[in-house]
Formats: sequence, C-alpha cells, structure tokens
Amino acid sequence: MDPRSEVLLRQADLFQGSLLLTGLPADDLPGRLPDARGWSWHAGDFAALQARFPGRTHFGTEAPVEPFEAAVLFLPKAKDLTDYLLNALASRLQGRELFLVGEKRAGIEAAARQLSPFGRARKLDSARHCQLWQVTVEYAPQAVELDSLAKHFDIDLDGGPLKVVSLPGVFSHGRLDRGSALLLENIDRLPSGHLLDFGCGAGVLGAAVKRRNPQMTVTMLDVDAFATASSRLTLAANGLEAEVLTGDGIDAAPEHLDAILTNPPFHTGVHTDYAATENLLRKAREHLKKGGELRLVANSFLRYQPIIEAHLGTCAIMSEGQGFRVYRAKRA
Ligand SMILES: C[S@@+](CC[C@H](N)C(=O)[O-])C[C@H]1O[C@@H](n2cnc3c(N)ncnc32)[C@H](O)[C@@H]1O
Repeated sequence: MDPRSEVLLRQADLFQGSLLLTGLPADDLPGRLPDARGWSWHAGDFAALQARFPGRTHFGTEAPVEPFEAAVLFLPKAKDLTDYLLNALASRLQGRELFLVGEKRAGIEAAARQLSPFGRARKLDSARHCQLWQVTVEYAPQAVELDSLAKHFDIDLDGGPLKVVSLPGVFSHGRLDRGSALLLENIDRLPSGHLLDFGCGAGVLGAAVKRRNPQMTVTMLDVDAFATASSRLTLAANGLEAEVLTGDGIDAAPEHLDAILTNPPFHTGVHTDYAATENLLRKAREHLKKGGELRLVANSFLRYQPIIEAHLGTCAIMSEGQGFRVYRAKRA
C-alpha cells in the first residue's frame, strides 16, 4: 500500500462518511474506506481503480459534481496544481474538513502552508516519511476556472511562432523543455501518414508536426488529463486539428503508425520511473508499420539505444547537445 494511504489509515476514524480522495494512488485504500470516492486525472490509476472499485472514481480535470463532506488531497508534484486542487476542494467545503497528505521528499511541509488561506492548519500525523495535515475551512474561496490558470507562450519555429497553452501540473509548465527544443530542430524528413506524439504534455511536438505537415494525421497521447486538456488548448490556439487521447502507455495507442515522436517520461510524480518508456520501446514495433520510424529525445545518460536496437531495429543518433540526444530507428 502507498505510504500516504497507510498514514491515512492510522487515523481511519477521521475518514468515515462521504470523503473525496483526490489524486489517490491505485491501491486498496477505497476498499478500507467504503464510503469514500476518488477523483483521479491519471488514466492508469483510474483504470486500476475502476477495475477494483467500479463506479467509485471520477476522472477528469474538474472536481466531481456530486457533493462530498470532506476531502483529502494527495500532494501532487507541482505547486500550481496543488493550488488549483486546494481551491477546487476548499470552495466546496465551507465549515468542513480538508486534509493534505504527502511525502516529505515531495515537500509536504512547505505545501501545508498553502492551506493557511482557508483557516488554521494543523499537522495530525507524521509517519512512513509522510505527513498528514488538516484544516477546517473557515474561509471558502471562490472556485477558480482551470483555463484562467493556463500559461501561454510562443515557440519560434519555421513558419512563425507556435502558441503553446499549458495548464497547472503539465510537464515544463510555461516554457519549452530543452530536450523538446532539440527534438523540434530534428522533425524534418519524418515519414508522412499517421504520427503519434507519445506523452504529448502541452502538445508542443504534435502541434508543430501538424502545422508543418497539414496532410499528416496526428494522434497525441498522454496519461494525464491535465496534459491532454492542454494539448487540446494548444491545438485550438493554432487552429489545428488532431486526435487527442488520454490513456496509459503505448498500449492505448493506435496501430499501423508511420511514426512515433516522443520526449518520453522518466518520472511518476516525484519518483523516477522508466516503466512507460521501456514498455514503449519494447512494443513500438507492434504499433508501427514496417519501415515506420521512432524518433525520440532523451537525456544522454539514459541507455535507450540498446533497448531500441533489441526490439525495433538499427538506432542512430541524429543530433546531440546540452545533455540530450535525438535517436531515430526504423522498424526492420
Ligand atoms: C517528458 S514529458 C514530454 C511532454 C511533451 N511531449 C513535451 O515535449 O513538452 C513526458 C510526458 O509523458 C507523459 N506520461 C507519463 N507516463 C505516461 C504513460 N504511462 N502514458 C502516456 N504518457 C505518459 C507525462 O504526463 C508527460 O506529459
């Protein structure tokens, strides 16, 4: 069980009644708190929770419309996402309890200060390298519209600036990542046809390809509903159309692709996690046509080349700089 869930269960008496578990891990916690419901924006966690506890978890970037009497927020990695979620919860909890649980290494001590606009925050427990905080909401805020928290920036590309819209919690929020910038310098001579932007984040890569090659079909895929909402906003801001899918990993992607373009993930929250990328490298051939191409940027220290060669075909370094490498490999 996730250590944050273990800390909640040490205080299980506090969590009876209709409770909203926000950003909950995919573990047995709903089984131990039978009246609790979940709110998730991670497609993988959501699918696992649905399979074990059908109908008990809401999916999306907005809080569920059904009422709840108290809420727990599992501290996310990004401070501005924490702000959005605390606002969304506190605006519905006048006079009621709001809890925040998180790991010390995720910055729970500092994040607890984000509770102070709502009332006097108290630390209830500290165990398993986690802390649990609570506030009775005395000053419920007005709910803030998610879109009003978007950051807008332009990327200079051949053909003029590309507008990017990123929502709280999305990778490289409000700026272009250096690895993605290097990949954008290397998007010429991609096979035409159907391209997948794997782990699309705010949609920078897929939107750039679609604008440059309007005849191509582009699919954007991310596990995070805030990322896919951002990708939709980025496409709209540039008058572009593409398919946007919220799903977990390459298994959720279409087949018969001509190309996969990606700056793939190596984190889940604050933890290093290569699972989604290793699965992509192992299974890319099942999703690419014969002769289809994988083009990927990664930190130079990551040893992806041998995995790509073992599963797809000869892998060449197309470009290198500032600690990143762009790889290309065709399905043999
Ligand atoms: C390094 S970021 C790249 C984002 C974007 N392509 C860019 O260049 O700015 C990796 C992205 O992969 C997404 N991701 C993580 N795990 C995933 C999974 N299992 N399936 C699909 N996307 C995933 C993350 O949410 C994140 O948006």
